[in-house]
Amino acid sequence: MAEEPVTMDKIVSLCKRRGFVFGSSEIYGGLSAAYDFGHYGVLLKNNVKAQWWKAMLQERDDILALDSAIIQHPKTWVASGHLAGFTDPLVDCRTCKLRFREDHLQQSACGRKPSKKPGETPDCDLTEARDFNLMFQTTIGPVQEQGTTVYLRPETAQGIFLNFKHYLQFARKKPPFGIAQIGKSFRNEITTQNFIFRMREFEQMEMEYFVPPAEAEMWFQHWLDQRMNWYVRLGLRPDRLRLRPHDADELSHYSRATSDVEYLFPGTIGWLELEGIANRGDFDLTQHAQHSGQKLEYVDSATGERYVPHVIEPAGGPDRSMLAFLVDAYDEDTIQGETRTVLRLHPQLAPVKVAVLPLVRKDGQPELAREVERMLRNQVQVEYDEGGAIGRRYRRQDEIGTPWAVTVDHQSLKDRTVTLRDRDSLTQERIAIDELGAEIERRLRQPWQSPKLA
Ligand code: GAP
Repeated sequence: MAEEPVTMDKIVSLCKRRGFVFGSSEIYGGLSAAYDFGHYGVLLKNNVKAQWWKAMLQERDDILALDSAIIQHPKTWVASGHLAGFTDPLVDCRTCKLRFREDHLQQSACGRKPSKKPGETPDCDLTEARDFNLMFQTTIGPVQEQGTTVYLRPETAQGIFLNFKHYLQFARKKPPFGIAQIGKSFRNEITTQNFIFRMREFEQMEMEYFVPPAEAEMWFQHWLDQRMNWYVRLGLRPDRLRLRPHDADELSHYSRATSDVEYLFPGTIGWLELEGIANRGDFDLTQHAQHSGQKLEYVDSATGERYVPHVIEPAGGPDRSMLAFLVDAYDEDTIQGETRTVLRLHPQLAPVKVAVLPLVRKDGQPELAREVERMLRNQVQVEYDEGGAIGRRYRRQDEIGTPWAVTVDHQSLKDRTVTLRDRDSLTQERIAIDELGAEIERRLRQPWQSPKLA
């Protein structure tokens, strides 16, 4: 595979420079693995989430939406197995005074001789591993000592199982059907790494698909295909994506089978999980039925047949997807002897769709450009920029991935036409202002693939 110009350092620096992502609490020295999303980061992540909702809700009729509470009844986590088992093996190094996940030791920087593997570095003095629960605790009630201990949810999935009964009743759904949710989850991760890839506060996009037990295998396969296609349709290059089935000793306590969608990150980082697709069987509904005393099953009113549905779960993360889209889109080329940094994002994902630029800040050009901006603003996310040389303004838009730039020039004032510049091909077409809206719409709807593949 050809060497790519992208590195994680370049992504981190672009994200900070152009207002996608900042380290959290930087004025106080920062807080590790916590990040704030700036203007373009919000727009990009919103587009990722909108595409997920579209695939779940708009393009099919068997999935419904939910937004459940972050703090749930503490019994939830007893029933789900998280209180007892959502742990990582924690190891301390007495020499380096650093903490590690035992299963991540090989990739850690432990040891005063970092060229050697940590476990083999004689200077390192590692403790035995002990289990560390990843759930954040807090208390409900005004007096901390007398309050009830509750947890910030470590996954959005359980909120779906707690609401299963409501969906049977209000939506009168019959398996197969799904419930989808996007929201914040929290994990006190021991090791954090790779920018926004592993954070302590992050978002998940999870869908629980309830099926007749005999159909579980078939639906598992269906969701593997659907989810891989979603990433490809949004422009991730297929040769950097793979599905990796879990080995039996890797499976979570609830899972009968899991495959991860993995993306090949640059340099030494390698393949990392973007999303897990699991066959959870009837584990969750059975556990919550036992702990709540409620019946969580489907009863067919016509035949009287009753069963506990099995669950297929595609569980992804908008933060990780966003990072993969950024890494995959990052490119550098040379224009008129100058290096250009460009994000070749799928137009549907790009934070800004159209930049509107007057060629010069006089002769009525800004006024006409403002008119074009107002016209397009009803339709898509637009940015107006009149500051600095036109070349510099194009570069700024290239760096945030804006697919099209509309330039109002001398001729525009005579015949109400503008130029429409394409971020990737760099072609400029002259087009009537009246036709701009339809042309942008047409381009947005076209199937798209990364120009890096060409
Ligand atoms: N309900 C199943 C579940 O939570 P998971 O593989 O632990 O499965 C699903 O998480 C997805 O959530 C991951 O594939 C990833 O996209 C995202 N995710 C998990 N932990 C994360 C973290 N610490 N930072 C960012 N995203 C995370």
